[in-house]
Amino acid sequence: MKEQLATLEQKQAQALLAGGQKRIDDQHKKGKLTARERIGLLLDEGSFEEIGMFVEHRAKDFGIDKEVYLGDGVITGYGTIDGRIVYVFSQDFTVFGGSLSETHAEKICKIMDLAMKNGAPVIGLNDSGGARIQEGVQSLGGYADIFYRNTVASGVIPQISAIMGPCAGGAVYSPAITDFIMMVEHTSYMFVTGPNVVKTVTHEDVTSEDLGGASAHASKSGVTHFTAANEVECINNIKKLLSYMPQNCDETAPAFDYEESNESRPALNSVIPANPNQPYDIRDIINELADANSFFEVHKDYAENIVVGFARIAGRSIGIVANQPAVLAGVLDINSSKKGARFVRFCDCFNIPLLTLVDVPGFLPGTDQEWHGIISNGAKLLYAFSEATVPKLTVIVRKAYGGAYDVMNSKHIGADMNYAWPNAEIAVMGAKGAAEIIFKREIATADNKEEKLKEVVDNYATNFANPYKAAARGFVDEVIEPSQTRAKLIRAFKMTENKAVKLPRKKHGNIPL
Ligand code: HXC
Repeated sequence: MKEQLATLEQKQAQALLAGGQKRIDDQHKKGKLTARERIGLLLDEGSFEEIGMFVEHRAKDFGIDKEVYLGDGVITGYGTIDGRIVYVFSQDFTVFGGSLSETHAEKICKIMDLAMKNGAPVIGLNDSGGARIQEGVQSLGGYADIFYRNTVASGVIPQISAIMGPCAGGAVYSPAITDFIMMVEHTSYMFVTGPNVVKTVTHEDVTSEDLGGASAHASKSGVTHFTAANEVECINNIKKLLSYMPQNCDETAPAFDYEESNESRPALNSVIPANPNQPYDIRDIINELADANSFFEVHKDYAENIVVGFARIAGRSIGIVANQPAVLAGVLDINSSKKGARFVRFCDCFNIPLLTLVDVPGFLPGTDQEWHGIISNGAKLLYAFSEATVPKLTVIVRKAYGGAYDVMNSKHIGADMNYAWPNAEIAVMGAKGAAEIIFKREIATADNKEEKLKEVVDNYATNFANPYKAAARGFVDEVIEPSQTRAKLIRAFKMTENKAVKLPRKKHGNIPL
């Protein structure tokens, strides 16, 4: 036994050294951690159980059979975060640049299968040059095996991808199917193909950072949901994000301790500016309504005219979708609709109740929006809210105009409780636009056109731009004093805790993608 134990120890030491000390040092010099160091930071201390430490690749071409590293460039296994089981894979850039071989893919698939059978999240720490170039279709097949599992697991277990180095080619599509992507500023990149190929094909000169760095994907493409200044912050974000989620679609998120106290929030009575066209930051309202410091914003730098994120209210996880009047007056456009829809669908998959805060002047008009498909993209948000069966509460804090009134979790599409503040304006369109259309003739024939316009606009605003017409119909359940909103929401979320709504049996719906 002594001899066998010595062999085991020697093999373990060899696996821990992965691609060798020089490549580990190179990794550190780039400001990056190794695959194992990342796992160490992510999981509860001492909780990691490795699977497949001695896996070797089976490729033979281009002399690669002479270069074999135990583990084959990815460390896989399970452990706990805050005591809850998670499955993890961490690609090792020191072994063939973290590139994906057939066996590397098999290791990832193995832990994904375990995660599915046992109902726990999968976290991928990605750092990979894409398909292992010395292999051929085996590597492509390996990718497809992962993509297929990502898709089947979608909506069953949470899947989180952290991008912690270059991710090229096939390496980007698995993260794209997962629920959330996190990138590290200046050391992580995602692109279908890198700057050299871009130059050849489109003659564009672009750096890796501009093409697919964290900031490009956070603000321009919306591919990443979070960015972090460094890997430690990125890993902490993963842990925080998980704290709002259940382990799988049959469970609810963990509840945090909460002691009831005075839930009145007087600051909310003066948060809306006197001038209804003046912007303000919707986060000021969110932070008053949510438990202290519990709001965790998702997709912060993308489509900023809508704010989405997780929070807790009386210790329970909720998802918040809120128009942002501080950006483009909070209008709904293509990107904000897509952002909102994706978030709503995640919350619905994992039994996270939704709170919608409405201050929206309508959909953004114009050729740019129409030609890029505001109709089908706007419909995504409408579809997502309509199909969501989790508890859904809505507060109209100021404007709810036109189609956007319907879309923003209105009563008609299944909201459980709809509140409005007394200053709310709910109408087909703004008073000026509406009055100009329906009183066109009166204005045209009036002696004093300006005076007539003012009169009909004021008249329309008094009659329609208030919450009472909607309340009279029951489309708004209650008009409430803003300071009482948090107390009302706590009760209403409690009231809807056991909500059980089933949509008609179907294979799956056909969301306008
Ligand atoms: C095998 C690879 C590799 C790969 C990198 N390496 N990528 N080995 N297959 N795909 C190896 C290098 O040979 C090198 O080995 C080590 O990893 C580090 O790579 P460097 O180039 O020295 O590092 P760096 O300068 O940091 O550049 C990293 C990189 C670059 C940006 C990832 O290596 C690169 O562009 N690689 C190729 C990316 C790519 O085109 N992949 C295929 C995409 S096609 P040594 O021995 O020197 O340490 C694809 C198809 C799937 O993925 C499609 C499915 C839908």
